[in-house]
Order: sequence, then C-alpha cells, then structure tokens
Amino acid sequence: MEWRWNFSQAALKVKSSAIRDLLKLTQQPDVISFAGGLPAPELFPVEGIMEASDYVLKHEGQFALQYSTTEGYRLLRRFLAKRMTQKGIVVDEDEILITGGSQQGLDLLGRLFLEEGDWIISAQPTYVGAIQAFNAYGVKFHTIPLDKDGIKVDLIEEAIKEKNPKFIYVIPTFQNPGGVTLSVERRKKLVEIARRYQVPIVEDDPYSELRYEGEDLPTLKALGSDVVILLGTFSKIVSPGLRTAWVAAAAPVIEKLIKLKQGADLHTNTFAQYILHQFLKGGGLDKHIKILREEYGQRRRVMLEALRENFPPKVKWTSPQGGLFLWVELPSGADATALLSEAVKEKVAYVPGPAFFPNGGGENTLRLNFSNASPKLIREGVKRLAKVFSAKIG
Ligand SMILES: Cc1ncc(COP(=O)(O)O)c(C=O)c1O
Repeated sequence: MEWRWNFSQAALKVKSSAIRDLLKLTQQPDVISFAGGLPAPELFPVEGIMEASDYVLKHEGQFALQYSTTEGYRLLRRFLAKRMTQKGIVVDEDEILITGGSQQGLDLLGRLFLEEGDWIISAQPTYVGAIQAFNAYGVKFHTIPLDKDGIKVDLIEEAIKEKNPKFIYVIPTFQNPGGVTLSVERRKKLVEIARRYQVPIVEDDPYSELRYEGEDLPTLKALGSDVVILLGTFSKIVSPGLRTAWVAAAAPVIEKLIKLKQGADLHTNTFAQYILHQFLKGGGLDKHIKILREEYGQRRRVMLEALRENFPPKVKWTSPQGGLFLWVELPSGADATALLSEAVKEKVAYVPGPAFFPNGGGENTLRLNFSNASPKLIREGVKRLAKVFSAKIG
C-alpha cells in the first residue's frame, strides 16, 4: 500500500529552488560553472581557521563544544558591534543575533512578520533564496525594477500606499543577481519613505566588503538604524561552510527573533562561532578580505574583458563595482532557460534569469558568477557561451 503523507498546506506549496536543481546539473567536474554563488575554494583561509580552531580546542574546548545561548557568543557579537560602529552604524551587541547563515535570518524574519496573503516589496530580479524563504509563508511580492542605480526608489511610495507591505526587502550593494548598487540619494530617500510610512527595510548585505572599485557607500542601516534590519554574513568573506551570519536590528525585533530561533535550532553552532571569533580577533578578517578583493577584482576584470571580446553585439551586461555577479540581457525574444541546455552541452553553465523573478518574467536574462572559476577558466567559459549565443541569437 502506498503511504499518503499528510503534509501541511505550506509544505505542499514549497518548491525546490531552481538554483539548487541547476547546481546539481552543473556539478560535473568538466563543466565551467558560472552558476552558483560560490567563493573560490582555493582562497579559503584554511591555515588561519586551523590555527584558530587549534587554539579554541586547547583553551576553550569546554565552552566551544557545549550548548550555548540562542543570541550567540557574546564576544563575537561584541566584535561585530564594534566593526559595524566603525562603519557608522549605531548598534549595541544586544541588538545582534547570530544565525545559521543569512538564509536563516531571512526565514526567521518571515516567521516574525509574514502571514499568508501579506505583501512585501522587493526588487526584480532579486535573490532566489529570499524568494524561496518568503514564499514559504504564502506572501505576495510587489516587485520594483532595477536600473544602473539599483531599485527604483521613486516607485516605492506608491507601492506602499497601494499594498500596505510588511517590509521592503533590498540588497542595496552589489545586488544579487543584478550586480548594481543603490545610489546614496536613493538610499536616503528609501530610509525617509520607510520612516514616513513605518514600513521596515530588510537590508541584505553579504557583499559590501567585496568592493573592487569606487568608494564605500553608507549602508541603509547607517542611514536609519531605527527602521532597518540588517543581515550580514561570514559566508562570502570567510567561509559559507561555517554557516555563521548575523541580524542587527532594534532590541524588540531581536528579542522576538531569539524566541523564534530557539524553536528552530536552539543556537548557531558554538564551535564555529568560537573559531570565527578567534580568527577575527587575530586580525585575520581584514587580511583575508584584502586577498579576496584583489583576486575577485581580477576575475571580474577578466570576465568583463572576455565578454567585450566575445559576446555578440546585441547582448548587454552590467559592470559591477564589487560582489560576485553580473547580469546579462539577451535580445528580447531569446530564451535563456532553453539556451542553458545548449550551454551545458558545451560544458558551461549559468543561472537563467527567471529564477530571480518572483512573479515570472526575465526570460531573456541570466546571471554570471565570476568568483568561483579561475581567470583561465573564465576566459574559456565565456568563449564557449559566446559560441552558443552567437549561433542561436546572432
Ligand atoms: C543576497 C543574499 N542573501 C543571503 C544569502 C545567503 O547567505 P548565507 O550563506 O549567509 O546563508 C546569499 C547567498 O548567496 C545572498 O546572495
């Protein structure tokens, strides 16, 4: 007899993310993958993490291997508060919650704010993991387009009046997947609107430390600590495998998130938090970020050069000043999803744009990652892609 699982309505609605499915397809070793958002594995600070973990086991093993508090290791939160304060953010260590990746932060914010049928405002395209996390709560996305200066903030006020959204979800700096950065003027305007209408902003910021060109911009959190919930993560600047990230928000938000997290996993991995703290305390972070900026900056240059040299003239792309991705627009009518099967035959992969559109669309767009493959493979991969695109779209 076949068992009939009595899954909840919410579980029945959850779909696997297109990225996860695609990653499986492109994980064959001979495929040059521009698909994932993976850091370069050869750059992981293995030595530094080894030294930190040896130290922790020798001197703090009895704490590091024990259960710990839900809000996270106090010294790690203190380190983060200090670092954020240096960047102009008004935040206290008690306004920080350590999470199992920013992905968990997104899910917990969903639990905290969202009910079936609620509206949220986001850019389109936007981070596929956020679409997945918020969709689990049955929400509707009111999407706002991006241009070269980020999300079109002038459309947000009308959207708030019309939809009464629970929050505005944005990735202002080196947006995933668009690669664009919100201008300072728009940042100020967005914070002003959020304050006026009392709609919180969720600022997802995994990439601002990975700038290769231009000047640092203030985070939304620095411009409006009261209305902004900031998500930061060690995934792209140290290691995603440690699954350690943080939420910085006003105390009442953090207090609720702590209670919700307690039910989800009690606390983030204690050992990982101790190791990270030890690594950071020794000055490992800034040294490592410097290495990443140099190497990823070079990979970005190589990819942009290869695109200019090889791609057909009708194809356009963004030129990000940082982060891990750039966004490609094929001529209208082209189908990036269908073209992916051709690309995989040529042993190269990317993520088709529709994955990043919560309400459909973006058929002629795609995302390219430039952090994971070496410069040599980036050149080769772009040539292979150019061959596919030239043959199919001219
Ligand atoms: C915009 C954005 N938010 C959140 C995440 C998830 O990060 P974490 O590894 O901290 O869960 C990513 C990962 O790619 C991302 O690009």
